[in-house]
Amino acid sequence: MTTLPIRATMLTKPKAQLTNGLPSLATTIKKQGEFETMKNVLILSGSPRKGGNSDLLCDEFMRGAKESGNNVTKINVASKKIAPCHACYFCGEHGGECVYKDDMAEILQAMIDADVLVLASPVYFYSIDAQLKAVIDRTVARWLEVKNKEFYYIMTAADEDKSSMDTTLACFRGYADCVNGAKEMGVIYGTGVYEKGKVLNTPAMAEAYEMGKNV
Ligand SMILES: Cc1cc2nc3c(=O)[nH]c(=O)nc-3n(C[C@H](O)[C@H](O)[C@H](O)COP(=O)(O)O)c2cc1C
Repeated sequence: MTTLPIRATMLTKPKAQLTNGLPSLATTIKKQGEFETMKNVLILSGSPRKGGNSDLLCDEFMRGAKESGNNVTKINVASKKIAPCHACYFCGEHGGECVYKDDMAEILQAMIDADVLVLASPVYFYSIDAQLKAVIDRTVARWLEVKNKEFYYIMTAADEDKSSMDTTLACFRGYADCVNGAKEMGVIYGTGVYEKGKVLNTPAMAEAYEMGKNV
């Protein structure tokens, strides 16, 4: 979205401020249909390789989404303490409280509060990585509260062939299938990137930025 310095929040400002130093009335009227509400965007960067390929794509997505005025948070889930789900069902009898007192409660609340969820993972043996899978599994404590989300998926792999990401993408989509009101909005395929930073020279960077900007 082109950046006009007008967002929903500004519409509540006094008239004097609205007409002072902002685009002409004609521009304002012309652009009125383009007003969009700021969204809460949560990026879950799954790779343990901080600053790695999928993480760099997350940063580009974040840059775009911030530029178009959204409220964006990125969490490197591998740097958080998140135990894998124990399937004890303590949560079921304790109002969604997990038996593990780690960083997941905070992440789960952020997921519930988000309008947009960006899930990012390297392809690991045709699946997603264990750190992000642990996050997804732990949502079971309050899984019905994660609802009405717009989903974006970011993947990276050494393989040049997009089809080698099919099963990783299926993991993301499998989770979204369990989210009421989930809408898939976009997928970034960072193919042919093995070494850390290799993605920098690929079109996926611009795609991630544009996707973030249009969130
Ligand atoms: C445990 C592990 C498993 C991997 N499995 C695959 C795979 O199945 N297919 C593939 O193309 N690349 C595979 N890779 C390579 C990574 O997907 C690739 O290096 C990717 O760019 C890493 O993204 P990152 O920098 O965001 O961590 C694997 C790497 C690791 C460490």
